[in-house]
Amino acid sequence: MITKTLRLNETSSFLVEWIKAPLRTASIIPSSEQLAKKMVKGLGADSGPVIELGPGTGVFTRELLHAGVAEADLTLVELNRNFAYRLKSRYPQSRVFNARAEQLHKLKLAPAGAVVSGLPFLSMRDQIVDEILDGAFKALKSDGVFIQFTYGHRCPVKSHLLQKHGLVAERSSFVLNNFPPASVYHIRRHHSYPF
Ligand SMILES: C[S@@+](CC[C@H](N)C(=O)[O-])C[C@H]1O[C@@H](n2cnc3c(N)ncnc32)[C@H](O)[C@@H]1O
Repeated sequence: MITKTLRLNETSSFLVEWIKAPLRTASIIPSSEQLAKKMVKGLGADSGPVIELGPGTGVFTRELLHAGVAEADLTLVELNRNFAYRLKSRYPQSRVFNARAEQLHKLKLAPAGAVVSGLPFLSMRDQIVDEILDGAFKALKSDGVFIQFTYGHRCPVKSHLLQKHGLVAERSSFVLNNFPPASVYHIRRHHSYPF
């Protein structure tokens, strides 16, 4: 549980950033605690390093820590400078990059067990999503999972991109208690994909 003051503070800074860059911020308020819990379900101390893309004010980050992921095992990649600054001061042992997720391949990272993404895939061009998937699956261990939420009715990664990267997507949850309601997808390498 987080305090009302912290939630209010996160909500107001999210709204301010949304006014400045609506498409990039993609939501007027942070995700709910209920969605955050579904996003990190199955992850814990044994998940190994976890990369979070588009953490915003850190709702999923907080749940990852509650789930047992060590702060030092977290890499946070956030494009918004104010959000990145705030995350670095709140989670000093994590690695925070004020960078574009599509630059992931340039960061030197240990093989990760999971990528947790809050990125607005629906407002991104295919080429950008393609680059993000490429970097993410290079950073993931062979059995690693890419966890993505969407407000849409289907997987936010288009079929031709899933096919191109040899991936399969599975909807793991639907969360009504979020504004707007959201689905969580687990995306993994197809078992027959050649390495
Ligand atoms: C819908 S918000 C999600 C924030 C948070 N994960 C949550 O659920 O409350 C999208 C976040 O992705 C960030 N973002 C957008 N494009 C990005 C990119 N190319 N690379 C890294 N972060 C990006 C935005 O600044 C914002 O913090």
